[in-house]
Amino acid sequence: GPDISVANVQGHLTRLQAIADANGGNRGTGRPGYTASLDYVKGKLDAAGYTTSVQSFSTWSGTSYNLIAEWPGGDPTNVVMMGAHLDSITGGPGINDNGSGTAAVLETALAYAASGQTPKNRLRVGFWGAEELGLVGSKAYAASLSTTEKDKIRVYLNYDMIGSVNPGYFVYNDNPAGNGARDELTAYYDSRGIPWEYIDVQGRSDHAAFRSYGIPTAGIFSGAEGLKSSAQAQKWGGTAGRAFDPCYHRACDTTANIDPTALDRGADAVGHMWWLYAAKDYSATTPTRGKGKPVT
Ligand code: PHE
Ligand code: ZN
Ligand code: CA
Ligand code: ZN
Ligand code: ZN
Repeated sequence: GPDISVANVQGHLTRLQAIADANGGNRGTGRPGYTASLDYVKGKLDAAGYTTSVQSFSTWSGTSYNLIAEWPGGDPTNVVMMGAHLDSITGGPGINDNGSGTAAVLETALAYAASGQTPKNRLRVGFWGAEELGLVGSKAYAASLSTTEKDKIRVYLNYDMIGSVNPGYFVYNDNPAGNGARDELTAYYDSRGIPWEYIDVQGRSDHAAFRSYGIPTAGIFSGAEGLKSSAQAQKWGGTAGRAFDPCYHRACDTTANIDPTALDRGADAVGHMWWLYAAKDYSATTPTRGKGKPVT
């Protein structure tokens, strides 16, 4: 797979931090920093040749927006998706949560466009609004799809918090239908000599909206408010007894709250999966959504 440029990913984070700084210190739902973040990501994808659309939905704090991008090409009956939530909490700039996932997904989409490849499958990217209000944007998106459109989605890969300063390398699927993608993620970490752990994230991010309809899901996560154990510090480095992200949901979740190695490894995993799924051959299979699980 590709080597996603961590410098470019960090460049996107610098821009998201500047957007927060210029808009009251946050990029939260219903706030100007959110729409400015959406405009930034949309502008980059439009310029790279993606077809973008903005989906509005309502939340208790007013209207918010998802950004959907598709690469024109590939078999539209086999859709592969990745996504990240674009909103922060209102109490901080949200650079690890979830500038990190946003920037890695954006840079991967841009790198794929620049690669000049022709994908076998239709590539679709979602940037979700109002995750911090309860996965509102991703739920609105999934609910808006007809059964036929849901059946076309072969996988949804979710990236939320991938550059934690005291990082873990967690892989989740939360959905047996996503075992295949989960195993591809762990095989990737194995190939890079990065120890990993499975985690059950209990539907705490946007993949849950897809999982509820039985769509295969998987993702990576570098840890939030949980404390790193001494066994984890031994295999991953960092500090035992300290949160994976000590600035989780705090004003100090700035560009200083990112581990560049975790960010680079995470972005390269995002890129690896995107290249893999762009070229995956689904011709011998029929769509198989699994058993749905309610969003909790
Ligand atoms: N979705 C959580 C948040 O945005 C963080 C999280 C991500 C938790 C992934 C578990 C797994 O606050
Ligand atoms: Zn690869
Ligand atoms: Ca890289
Ligand atoms: Zn959060
Ligand atoms: Zn998050």
